[in-house]
Amino acid sequence: MNLSEGENGHVSVLLKETIDLVDPKPGDVIVDATLGLGGHSREILERQPEARLIGLDQDADAIEIAKRNLEEFGDRVTIVQTNFVNIREALSELGIDAVNGIIADLGVSSLQFDSETRGFSFRFDAPLDMRMDAEGQYPTAAELLQTLSQEEIANTIYQFGEERFSRRIARRIVERREAGNPVATTRELAELVERAVPRSKKDKIHPATRTFQALRIAVNNELGVLENFLSDSVESLAPGGRLAVISFHSLEDRIVKQAFLKLSGRCQCPPRLPTCQCGAVKKVEILTKKPVVPTETELSENPRSRSAKLRAVRKLNI
Ligand SMILES: C[S@@+](CC[C@H](N)C(=O)[O-])C[C@H]1O[C@@H](n2cnc3c(N)ncnc32)[C@H](O)[C@@H]1O
Ligand SMILES: [Zn+2]
Repeated sequence: MNLSEGENGHVSVLLKETIDLVDPKPGDVIVDATLGLGGHSREILERQPEARLIGLDQDADAIEIAKRNLEEFGDRVTIVQTNFVNIREALSELGIDAVNGIIADLGVSSLQFDSETRGFSFRFDAPLDMRMDAEGQYPTAAELLQTLSQEEIANTIYQFGEERFSRRIARRIVERREAGNPVATTRELAELVERAVPRSKKDKIHPATRTFQALRIAVNNELGVLENFLSDSVESLAPGGRLAVISFHSLEDRIVKQAFLKLSGRCQCPPRLPTCQCGAVKKVEILTKKPVVPTETELSENPRSRSAKLRAVRKLNI
């Protein structure tokens, strides 16, 4: 077993690099906004024995396992089940005004992706659910495919999956629905996409991969919550505090990069506007001019790290 591999075989991505950037000091309070199985949290708690950790996750299963994995740290750890978009409320309920570091390791954990029942992967036949917060009120992937229009389904698959054949896939989904046989399982969707998309020999990934990614992002509103989370996180940092974010695809990385540029005072308005409308104000210094990416060794040991990009900022002393 790899040293950074926790219970359930989840290997934490860019582990050392992330905690180096956050650089926890004695007495610091650090938030792990995507606790998962607690791999990054453990590294913080071990590296800085006088730091306190607040862990957030919206997934009840992850919370259960992380509680067990971090039990030995006792009251240095506080775990809250919530969406990280609620970071400010979560901290204020704990009576905390400001924290010294925040990390987010976005996307799904291997616990979710390797679940045989939650519908994140077409490797297992399961109902098309894909909700990270399985107790929440939001629709499942199957429900989205039942209720969205053909155009909305196509746009979702195109925007969040960058799938060229989104229109064909959406047409087939709606044809099945109209025939009274809506797509309800991972296998049904994977087979439908396989039939709808011409297979190219250059394609190294399964043709349904992009469609599954797109639906997962839509079901969990992953891009929608990210921007608010980033700006609220900076508000929650004490002067000198650091925020480090690991993203896993270009859509996410673009949001992180632009949010950090804006928070560093760089105007994000289109060049044709005579005056700034985006309200960019300098609140942070960017610590990663270029994103940090996994080393060759990490890439060979953990294929999940393939597309990981780490960016970080430091809040200014103002
Ligand atoms: C990649 S895993 C984190 C793994 C963790 N860093 C570790 O080392 O074990 C991402 C976790 O973040 C959670 N998550 C993703 N988006 C979230 C959000 N908006 N709010 C709260 N939790 C979220 C997922 O449920 C998942 O457990
Ligand atoms: Zn502007």
